[in-house]
Amino acid sequence: MKILVTGGLGFIGSHTVVELQSEGFEVVIIDDCSNASEEVLKGINAITGKMPLYEKIDLKDKEKVIDFFKRHDDVEGVIHFAASKAVGESVEKPLLYYENNIATLVYILKELSQKKKSSFIFSSSCTVYGQADKMPITESAPIKPAESPYGNTKQMGEEIIRDTCLVTPNLNAIALRYFNPMGAHPSAEIGELPIGVPQNLIPFITQTGVGMRKELSVFGDDYPTKDGTCVRDYIYVVDLAKAHVQALKRLLEHENGENYEVFNLGTGTGSSVLEVIQSFERVSGEKLNYKIVDRRPGDVISAFADTTKANEVLGWKAQYTLDEAMKSAWDWEQKIRN
Ligand code: WQD
Repeated sequence: MKILVTGGLGFIGSHTVVELQSEGFEVVIIDDCSNASEEVLKGINAITGKMPLYEKIDLKDKEKVIDFFKRHDDVEGVIHFAASKAVGESVEKPLLYYENNIATLVYILKELSQKKKSSFIFSSSCTVYGQADKMPITESAPIKPAESPYGNTKQMGEEIIRDTCLVTPNLNAIALRYFNPMGAHPSAEIGELPIGVPQNLIPFITQTGVGMRKELSVFGDDYPTKDGTCVRDYIYVVDLAKAHVQALKRLLEHENGENYEVFNLGTGTGSSVLEVIQSFERVSGEKLNYKIVDRRPGDVISAFADTTKANEVLGWKAQYTLDEAMKSAWDWEQKIRN
């Protein structure tokens, strides 16, 4: 069975391609390589022994999207990762984000809507909740006004899919709201490859650990949390990838209730920034250089998932601990720096 993975050379996409191939799916990747490298194909092949099909296509080119689906009319499912995802950049370049994250989604959905049956998995984010009032966060928590154009594209993306599914019974979709993905494949053949100075906490920590960065700035320790630093739900990228395969199978095997469903993907445990630093120090045996600085505008105080629906309805549960995920991130960082 052939599955299209857009953004399949990216961090979560490449780990999902590995899990799909391991389950016997044939995978075709579309990636424009704006934030990924074709080298990732070698890593996927090294892990699974199978080189996925790959086409370098800019999904903003509507004609190219139409042509792709004509040539691959045997695609039975799509996992859609391709999108720009830097919160800060989205504030400076909103139209780049609305074009790249929304227009491309519309072009793909138009092609899928014409098939007699199709399964669609959408990469969404806990960012749609903003600062939720209650922890842990359930899928029925209110969607708050987006704090960035990036977050808005995830909210709008979900609404576009929901509205399309309402009038397209042959289209079955699931939106997966990720919390904070981290780590790398245990083989250290693929992992996170941030371009430039990392915005996210985990790669900044591991780059500091290998001496690429002088010290980590901790953005505030005066929040109303267990130790004053922000709390997040850090989920191992391999757990996350397995959830995508589980969600796809749910649709392919017609196990879904409605033809549009939403699941939170997290561990259900909140970890503070200082606890993440302690995890790094435990797994690396190294002290981490860090200093406390001012809060980062836009940060929510706390966000961690209620995983009941994913556990009981989707039949998926995160298996790995924060330390195991951190160890994989550290092993990966040391490998790519040597
Ligand atoms: C985590 C915590 C920071 C860097 C973002 C996106 C979200 C999703 C996941 C795409 C926060 C603190 C960070 C640093 C720090 N991405 N931090 N020093 O902001 O929770 O979520 O990535 O869907 O949409 O917003 O992740 O890793 O940036 O920050 O103290 O150098 O680490 O304040 O508390 P975030 P993050």
